[in-house]
Amino acid sequence: MDVEKILAAMTLEEKAALCQGLDAWHTVPVERLGVPAVMVSDGPHGLRKEVEEDGKKHTIDAVCYPSAVGTASSFDPALLEEMGRLLGASCQAENVGVLLGPAANIKRSPLCGRNFEYFSEDPCLSSRMAAAHIRGVQAEGVGTSLKHFAANNQETHRMSVSAEISEQALREIYLASFEGAVKAAKPWTMMCSYNKIMGVYSSENPWLLNTVLRDEWGYDGLVMSDWGAVNDHVESVASGLDLEMPRGGDQEDRAIVEAVRSGALDEGALDEAVRHVLKLVERCVENHREGEVFDRDMQHHQARKIARESMVLLKNEGGLLPIRGNRKVAFIGDFARKPRYQGGGSSHINTSRVDSALNAVRSVCAVTYAQGYREEDDLPDEGLQAEAVRVASEADVAVVFAGLPERYESEGYDRTHMRLPEGQNRLIEAIAQAQPNVVVVLHNGSPVEMPWVDRVPGLLEAYLGGEAGGSAVVDLLFGAVSPCGKLAETFPRKLSDTPCSLFFPGDRESVVYSEGVYVGYRYYDKKEMEVLFPFGHGLTYTTFRYSDLRLSADTIAAGGTLKATVQVTNTGSMAAKEIVQFYIRPDHAGKSRPVRELKGFGKIALQPGETGTVEVTLTSRDFCYWDESLHGWFLEPGCYQVEAAASSRDIRLTAPVTAVGQPLPVRVTLDTEMGDILSIPGAREVLDRVDPRMAHFPYDLPLHNVVSWTQAAVTREKLVALAEELNGLQCFEPEA
Ligand code: BGC
Repeated sequence: MDVEKILAAMTLEEKAALCQGLDAWHTVPVERLGVPAVMVSDGPHGLRKEVEEDGKKHTIDAVCYPSAVGTASSFDPALLEEMGRLLGASCQAENVGVLLGPAANIKRSPLCGRNFEYFSEDPCLSSRMAAAHIRGVQAEGVGTSLKHFAANNQETHRMSVSAEISEQALREIYLASFEGAVKAAKPWTMMCSYNKIMGVYSSENPWLLNTVLRDEWGYDGLVMSDWGAVNDHVESVASGLDLEMPRGGDQEDRAIVEAVRSGALDEGALDEAVRHVLKLVERCVENHREGEVFDRDMQHHQARKIARESMVLLKNEGGLLPIRGNRKVAFIGDFARKPRYQGGGSSHINTSRVDSALNAVRSVCAVTYAQGYREEDDLPDEGLQAEAVRVASEADVAVVFAGLPERYESEGYDRTHMRLPEGQNRLIEAIAQAQPNVVVVLHNGSPVEMPWVDRVPGLLEAYLGGEAGGSAVVDLLFGAVSPCGKLAETFPRKLSDTPCSLFFPGDRESVVYSEGVYVGYRYYDKKEMEVLFPFGHGLTYTTFRYSDLRLSADTIAAGGTLKATVQVTNTGSMAAKEIVQFYIRPDHAGKSRPVRELKGFGKIALQPGETGTVEVTLTSRDFCYWDESLHGWFLEPGCYQVEAAASSRDIRLTAPVTAVGQPLPVRVTLDTEMGDILSIPGAREVLDRVDPRMAHFPYDLPLHNVVSWTQAAVTREKLVALAEELNGLQCFEPEA
């Protein structure tokens, strides 16, 4: 396809038509010019392709992989890339050009109904996992759509609410989660969010779509709307949105044509949108492989492997797990039989093959089983509970499968509390009284409160493990492999501990992100607050020793990088993988910042007794914060600690590094205080030249008051010139 030639040959009406979908899932073809339609389908953890047969719509049978909350816990980009390739191969077989996802929204509150689809509370982890997913799918010649850009962190009023966020929090947390993935993996498409940011809909926000995404981050792909996220189509096209999805109707085309004719819409902006659509079609056509087949059995097998890596062993007192030998095992709970393995909404995969743990365990050993509760009930069923207690007490080990029913969390609504159904909590308490060897396996898409946590020695967070999650749970419980995931989010003790508990989900008009950058562990660490399980926590069936943390340099300057390496030794008796996290901790007085921030991580497989090296590269940007006076990244000079850690609360080794560079420039205006002015290197000489008294005025005196304090010996005009001279002494160039 020759995109420019086709564009030049298109009529205004054809161009307008191309800027919205043909229907729910296709772009508009231009047959006259040989431009076909391409199909997009949901993702992200499977292929939800909708087809119509005999006038009825249904979605095809496809493999359901673990959702993002689980895969993020693997801290393993290579695994995500592999999953992406499997998804891409399925899309090739089904002639789907773009798989919608992954979603890089930050988990601001555990209550967000869609948290299961998001990776993390941390932008470094989130953006790297998203990048890996994108790389995998696109390596198969299929596009992705990184969504929901941006600040869509709740379901309540998601289609209209305005996210009111400070510039710093937006840049450091909410945009950073997208930025890393856009720059590293170049998704073919981006999907804008429904909500407004600071009062402007994402679908018509030129700052977001043009200034940040294209000009600053260098993005050259297509931007589509979330489904129905367009408010004013003409405004959207003018602001950098290329494709409205799904089809909005004929009036949308007419509005574009009229706007161009009347001069209200620059035809150049329309051409740019059309160019992006045509380039996407070209990519899809050029990369499509005819005759691809999709190997369901192989993919199911891979889904099981990915699920094993995506679960987190939270507690294992007394080495209760893995279950070995001829122990009598009882499985308890409705979820043992009917696992909750995926979340509700647009990502819901229609799979014909779901492994339950109860079926899977039968190939390992004989177990007894009791239902314990009904998934659809919130309150306890005394009969089922009594039977479960009896079955549990007759065994050596009781494994209770608990979790959130789908009605508790889904796309479309948020939770209002963080509790499990009351009946499940009571069942776990009752079983723990009758049986000391209790393991709880949780199926949920986001953290829950655990009033019984001190009374159960074993706890496996299985999240929503996809169609093979049940088999993966059995693999881990019985030690076929060691668990190796770590939490991509903090589990707070209770809802009221969470940073935004007072401000979530806001009101109908707006939600104020009052906690700023203090999201997740950034908040709990700053508050020195006890949590149930910290960010980055996860156990294996072995132990690891960390030694010899080394940095390739002991200073870093703007634009610089340094390597951090650490030795890890498996000191236990089972092969396992360790996830090493690298945090940066400012160690000097200065700007108030989070205690530590994740800036790199690595995962290593080690046999018993084996030692290996984990290495990460840190860049000067990793030491920066977003400065609102500079409107840019700033490398604050001073000492920092690089921490090699097993979790955000288990720091094993630290090494110092000094950031060198200029102090923060002071943008001098007539309101700037004398103290700040005097902090500028060379300022004193300039002041002394104008009037030597000035350097002795109170530190909190704003510059404009100098006129009265000198009885107009120094005039306002002189102060304006002075401010300009002082600004000229400093460098306002932010870090790239
Ligand atoms: C969701 C998107 C999804 C789209 C298409 C929207 O409601 O927010 O994530 O890709 O529908 O199903």
